[in-house]
Amino acid sequence: MAATRFALIIFAASLFLMLPDCCSGSFIGICYGRNADDLPTPDKVAQLVQLHKIKYVRIYDSNIQVLKAFANTPVELMVGVPNSDLLSLSQFQSNADTWLRNSILPYYPATKITYITVGAEVTESPHNASMFVVPAMTNVLTALKKVGLHKKIRVSSTHSLGVLSRSFPPSAGAFNSSHAYFLKPMLEFLAENQSPFMIDMYPYYAYRDSPKKVPLDYALFEASSEVIDPNTGLLYTSMFDAQIDAIYFALTALNFRTIKIMVTETGWPSKGSPKETAATPDNAQRYNANLIRHVINNTGTPAKPGQELDVYIFSLFNENRKPGLESERNWGLFYPDQTSVYNLDFTGRGAVDMTTSANITRSNGTTWCIASSKASQMDLQNAVDWACGPGNVDCTAIQPSQPCYEPDNLVSHASYAFNSYYQQNGASDVACSFGGTGVKVDKDPSMFVTTHHRFYFYLLFLLSHASLFINYLIHNH
Ligand SMILES: *[C@@H]1O[C@H](CO)[C@@H](O)[C@H](O)[C@H]1NC(C)=O
Ligand SMILES: *[C@@H]1O[C@H](CO)[C@@H](O)[C@H](O)[C@H]1NC(C)=O
Ligand SMILES: *[C@@H]1O[C@H](CO)[C@@H](O)[C@H](O)[C@H]1NC(C)=O
Ligand SMILES: *[C@@H]1O[C@H](CO)[C@@H](O)[C@H](O)[C@H]1NC(C)=O
Ligand SMILES: *[C@@H]1O[C@H](CO)[C@@H](O)[C@H](O)[C@H]1NC(C)=O
Repeated sequence: MAATRFALIIFAASLFLMLPDCCSGSFIGICYGRNADDLPTPDKVAQLVQLHKIKYVRIYDSNIQVLKAFANTPVELMVGVPNSDLLSLSQFQSNADTWLRNSILPYYPATKITYITVGAEVTESPHNASMFVVPAMTNVLTALKKVGLHKKIRVSSTHSLGVLSRSFPPSAGAFNSSHAYFLKPMLEFLAENQSPFMIDMYPYYAYRDSPKKVPLDYALFEASSEVIDPNTGLLYTSMFDAQIDAIYFALTALNFRTIKIMVTETGWPSKGSPKETAATPDNAQRYNANLIRHVINNTGTPAKPGQELDVYIFSLFNENRKPGLESERNWGLFYPDQTSVYNLDFTGRGAVDMTTSANITRSNGTTWCIASSKASQMDLQNAVDWACGPGNVDCTAIQPSQPCYEPDNLVSHASYAFNSYYQQNGASDVACSFGGTGVKVDKDPSMFVTTHHRFYFYLLFLLSHASLFINYLIHNH
């Protein structure tokens, strides 16, 4: 009880120190591809996603189990219509009405659906999908209008960079005129309905296919020298920005200045065939971490500084049934058993590592992981459920009447579960992340912890680390 009160004081102090958590800005989402036979159930995935504070998820169909799993969560979904359905949806309005009535309306608004992507990368699709895509989009929009949801759910379609005939220099960006027959009416549709132009972008492929021409650090947002666009004088330090600006310039050239761009896929594989030397966990971690920082910071691009740009990372899981080179099956941030392929912080604020700032008191390399007293109850509960479930921690000791049940509060139960998981998983930084609710410490909590001494441990610990805590709070806001 007293420990809870102390936690409340800390929480109140943290409110004081909190800077205004400003404005909407750009967001990071994730693609939940399911081309695999070993993935966790959608319910487990919905937990995992929330544990990592991911609020935006793209799926490629309208699978019922997935839509249900995200019901009553804060997660916003982008739902997809596969290319194979475009013909039918384009033929008759009633087909689109029926699709909406059966696939979306039963789950909405409990499940927050904010975008429908009608077709995906149609220029890469063999089945004449590009001929049907705009009529299908129009019918889906009409179906939404009939039920008054066209302002809440936006309709668009995703593209590969293959829609451009030229992407360098960015100012010369231009759409391939062979696609004009469907692209022109699509751009008119997007402008009229304030829908974004959706692009899947992969600097990884540009590097893999021309490693002599594309410097790796330029592809990874870490260019040591800038690339100049001779027409505009704009300086580029990342291929990502150059590709985005190529699309802005292509849109501008056709006089569509108001259409926003959204990146519906980007990422980097962590493993590849022997020839794919850049597909490593280190490069994947660097690409995605730099990307997240770039997006969350609202950096924009050289042509549009500060412009909002929402980005979905590909992909949540490694997908073992994808055909092609080894890298195709290794785009995931998570293995199917829900452990991380590499460390990644989705908030873009950087993991707080108390061991670095606490160097003074650190006697040897031993560290522990406890629950942050400023995490919300819901986040902590999700993290405990995850640790004691998919995380494989034996949580019997914190069940009622077991040795570590008292004091019966979430912070101490979570600390038990977190530390067990942390020690079982090599005491790596990522093993103490828990979506930002875990904190590494350098004093052994269990040294003090007999049941009725636990509170004193917290008090002593918190007092002796008060300055570190304040430091931590400041840096975390
Ligand atoms: C694609 O469209 C062309 C022209 O209408 C037609 O000849 C061809 O059979 C179509 N291909 C497929 C796979 O539907
Ligand atoms: C434009 O698209 C056509 C049809 O897909 C393709 O054959 C051509 O190579 C493309 N042109 C460029 C410059 O990419
Ligand atoms: C964040 O944005 C500012 C200004 O918009 C820019 O100067 C800075 O380089 C950006 N930082 C990162 C990490 O992108
Ligand atoms: C922390 O301590 C280690 C080992 O004593 C030392 O190598 C490192 O530079 C210290 N880090 C900081 C930030 O003081
Ligand atoms: C680190 O310190 C703890 C307690 O002070 C001790 O039990 C442990 O053996 C030490 N570990 C190493 C690797 O020295």
